Amino acid sequence: MPLPKAELHLHIEGTLEPELAFALAARNGVTLPYADTEELRKAYEFADLQSFLNLYYGLMAVLRTEDDFADLADAYLARAAAQGVRHAEIFFDPQAHLARGVGMGTVVAGLGRALDRSEAVHGVSTQLIMCFLRDESAGSAMETLEAAKPYLAPRGPIVGVGLDSAEVGHPPAKFAEVYGAAAALGLRRVAHAGEEGPPAYITEALDVLGAERIDHGLRCMEDPELVDRLVRDRVPLTLCPLSNVRLRAVDVLAEHPLPKMLDAGLLCTVNSDDPAYFGGYAGDNFRAVREALGLSPERLRELARNSFVASFLEHDEERRAR
Ligand code: ADE
Ligand code: ZN
Repeated sequence: MPLPKAELHLHIEGTLEPELAFALAARNGVTLPYADTEELRKAYEFADLQSFLNLYYGLMAVLRTEDDFADLADAYLARAAAQGVRHAEIFFDPQAHLARGVGMGTVVAGLGRALDRSEAVHGVSTQLIMCFLRDESAGSAMETLEAAKPYLAPRGPIVGVGLDSAEVGHPPAKFAEVYGAAAALGLRRVAHAGEEGPPAYITEALDVLGAERIDHGLRCMEDPELVDRLVRDRVPLTLCPLSNVRLRAVDVLAEHPLPKMLDAGLLCTVNSDDPAYFGGYAGDNFRAVREALGLSPERLRELARNSFVASFLEHDEERRAR
């Protein structure tokens, strides 16, 4: 029986497996620049975050209809459930779809259809978090928030906002206004920071964006005062160990700072980020850190417990999910 866990850092577009990508390409008459799934998989050799993002945005060309988004989310939820995920807070990138002429309504209706039946079909409760692309303008982010208004909780499935895409050179402060507007709408706030970018981006995400959770946060370890603050304020970090290896944030998994971060008292969680690209889903990440870092059963239980503590579930819901 896999450990029951919550997944808090998962880009739904990053769950697009090569087989589904080719099936959707055929369904939608899209020609992919790869002969077959094997050739596509061979392209999954990344030098850094940007080299991954180029492929990730390119492959989204196959996602066109409500059914495509429903099938994508349903496939993820089935895999996640099989690995012990009981609750998933799922990111999506609306600007990447709007830019291709696929509207917010299509994306949210498709994802929402899979999410609505997820508890009954997969035993996984879900929430949806809309991410702004940090390499797009602040104005575009504000327009995206405006377009999302009909789909915000409690009427719709979107409970929060996040910030992702190319980090270096795109500090969080650019998005102060849209995060302020999101807070005024009652939305939860998270942000990617300290994946490739410096510790100062983590501080800025907390101070300027009011981020309640930091996605990755890996580079906080370079700033002892920041570590003290994250520990004191119990700010959750959503780490993604296999992603860090594949995007070369760490050289090898055996050198991942997760054990040091736990020893420092940080509220760490383990997640999969873009599992179709990085070699594994949530349970695979747990197994990989157990094997490479020799984490004890107690440490693994702590990580699983942290995932519920760091979630946006209310406490009675949290208890039911566990
Ligand atoms: N978008 C999808 N995966 C991402 C990651 N690991 N970092 C930043 N943006 C992303
Ligand atoms: Zn991510």
